[in-house]
Amino acid sequence: MTSPEIVEVSSLADIMSRMGDIVDKFLEKTVVVARGASFTLEEQIQVLNFFGETIGTYPNGSAGRLDIYTENHSRLSGEVSKDEVLVSWHLEHVETDNPYEVIVGGLWNMYKFSASPGSGNTYFVDTAKFLASLPKEHQDLLRDSVLTWSLGGNGPYVVPTVGVHWKTGEEVLRIPLNAPKHNMQVANLEGDPFTEDSKNALLDLIEHCIGEITTNEEIRVVHQWQEGDLVFVDLYKNAHAVAGGFDPEDREFTGIWMYSRDNQAGSNDT
Ligand SMILES: [Fe+2]
Repeated sequence: MTSPEIVEVSSLADIMSRMGDIVDKFLEKTVVVARGASFTLEEQIQVLNFFGETIGTYPNGSAGRLDIYTENHSRLSGEVSKDEVLVSWHLEHVETDNPYEVIVGGLWNMYKFSASPGSGNTYFVDTAKFLASLPKEHQDLLRDSVLTWSLGGNGPYVVPTVGVHWKTGEEVLRIPLNAPKHNMQVANLEGDPFTEDSKNALLDLIEHCIGEITTNEEIRVVHQWQEGDLVFVDLYKNAHAVAGGFDPEDREFTGIWMYSRDNQAGSNDT
């Protein structure tokens, strides 16, 4: 496992002056931590807007819906240690491929963190990098497929197994990490229909990918939080999870979603 990229910042003016560097690192490393200052929600929005203006995400200060949420995971009860997963592995809103609603990034402001160091870590796996690491025949099989699944009485959802990154054009594995294999079906994207054997092989492959993403610590990036950390994360690429070991009173952040389209006007038809 490795740690994310950390950029030392001293103030709002300082982080704004480093935005070009932050964007470059975001595109290369997918998770960037700005550390050393603390930001109010108003400042976080200013940072988000300037980031959007620089890289091309929404909102950007001129357009785009501002989706803000505060989270301390208090609804997840039970004893979960700092070495176990509290918030299970997921890709954010993977059930939609509507480009107006696909979440491509997040800006997380950990304004309160008084839990013990090393608790409440956030885990990341870049699923573009993971996909590229697979044998070519496995990549081909995944690329040609559409996945259908249901979960918790919701669905069915129908999404291409491999998506294209809005900015870099990279192929990204987009699979539901919490859907059991028996709730998934696969179909071919185009060309000849899959045989039953191909379908079974593909479902086995997807199950294998889920296992690797959620358990292989060698491909995992682990962020150990400090109060004031402002994290820029590519949520199109990053599967993520949160470890336990903290009291909700000691760990609270504000997140803001990023989109690749201007969804402010409510026009979210593809
Ligand atoms: Fe999430």
